[in-house]
Amino acid sequence: MAARTAVVVGALGVIGRYIVERLAALPDWQVVGLSRRKGEDRGSIRHIPVDLLDAADTERKLAGLGEAAHVFYCAFQANGAQAADYAKGIGVNRDMLVNAVTAIERVAKRLERVVLVTGTKYYGSHLGPFRTPAKEDDPRHMPPDYYYDQIDWLTAHQSGKTWTWTELRPQTLCGFAPGTAMSIVPVIAVYAAISRELGLPLRFPGKPGAYRAIYQVTDSTHMANAALWAASEPRCANQAYNITDGDYFRWINLWPRIAEVFEMPHAEPQTISLVAHMADKGPLWDAMTRKYGLRPHRYEDIVAWPFGDYVFGCDWDVMTSTTKARRHGFHDVVDSEDMFVRLLAQFRAERIVP
Ligand SMILES: NC(=O)c1ccc[n+]([C@@H]2O[C@H](COP(=O)([O-])OP(=O)(O)OC[C@H]3O[C@@H](n4cnc5c(N)ncnc54)[C@H](OP(=O)(O)O)[C@@H]3O)[C@@H](O)[C@H]2O)c1
Repeated sequence: MAARTAVVVGALGVIGRYIVERLAALPDWQVVGLSRRKGEDRGSIRHIPVDLLDAADTERKLAGLGEAAHVFYCAFQANGAQAADYAKGIGVNRDMLVNAVTAIERVAKRLERVVLVTGTKYYGSHLGPFRTPAKEDDPRHMPPDYYYDQIDWLTAHQSGKTWTWTELRPQTLCGFAPGTAMSIVPVIAVYAAISRELGLPLRFPGKPGAYRAIYQVTDSTHMANAALWAASEPRCANQAYNITDGDYFRWINLWPRIAEVFEMPHAEPQTISLVAHMADKGPLWDAMTRKYGLRPHRYEDIVAWPFGDYVFGCDWDVMTSTTKARRHGFHDVVDSEDMFVRLLAQFRAERIVP
């Protein structure tokens, strides 16, 4: 079978990395990854470093992508200091999509599908309580929200073309991608390791209401499986889907299990700002890196504290329905509590944290 070429835009992110790996593990895909940093080329994976905000340079660097049949768009730039404000970052996040898709489409005459990753902030999950479980055709919240600008542009741009789009809406990705703004597992892992090093029990650092509210996440590996399904399933043409692990949990039930992974006691929540309280822990982390022989990640790359404050500050239920994806053929599910235990144990085993 002739190899199919996929372009993963945002290939070093907490979603993109996992899509690249998922596709590269298949025998019949060639993968091109785009990001500003240069990823490692190996096997069927080739990386092109490009700043998608530079339209002319993007067009020049992507001119060789004539074979591209599938685009997975998961680039993102954070704006502002508060993760809850990221949805307001319209200009750059719309422009990167426009520049990437137009440059690829110009040369890729066999383009079949563009999979756009947005998220649960589509429903205003970052603003406060919203209708749960949220369904794909629920009304939008009061803008701004760059997801609306992205999907409105993509929908209008696709009109009358032979290729189609699919929009995927995940929630709080669980994976490892150093140097990115939104990844909760490193937040938990580094926070737990530092707490233990300081002789503290593992305390939930968020709001008491967030400890008890219903929450949901998306395993990055599961997300990559969903993206592959979305790219190849005919029913996904011009449709949006919520993609989460497919279950819900409460931090209060999970927290003792996390403490167990780190072989430490847990205690009642104590609300702190991770941004403020962890700001001075860089030197301690560097010392821990040497003491325990950890992989040498810079403190500011390994963990994004604003994202922790945001996730642990949601003291309202965060629930979306994954029924539509199931009805259209994506049946994978992940047990989120088991996933956290597995990923955190893996972080320890791989010497990312002690
Ligand atoms: N992470 C989550 O928990 C989560 C949850 C729900 C929805 N989402 C949504 O998923 C989408 C992807 O987010 P993510 O968390 O996967 O992002 P991410 O981990 O921060 O990755 C972003 C990617 O975009 C690349 N990038 C940024 N600016 C670029 C530029 N100017 N030119 C080229 N590449 C650029 C980054 O690489 P370089 O830095 O090397 O350029 C990186 O590969 C976003 O819309 C986000 O809102 C994420």
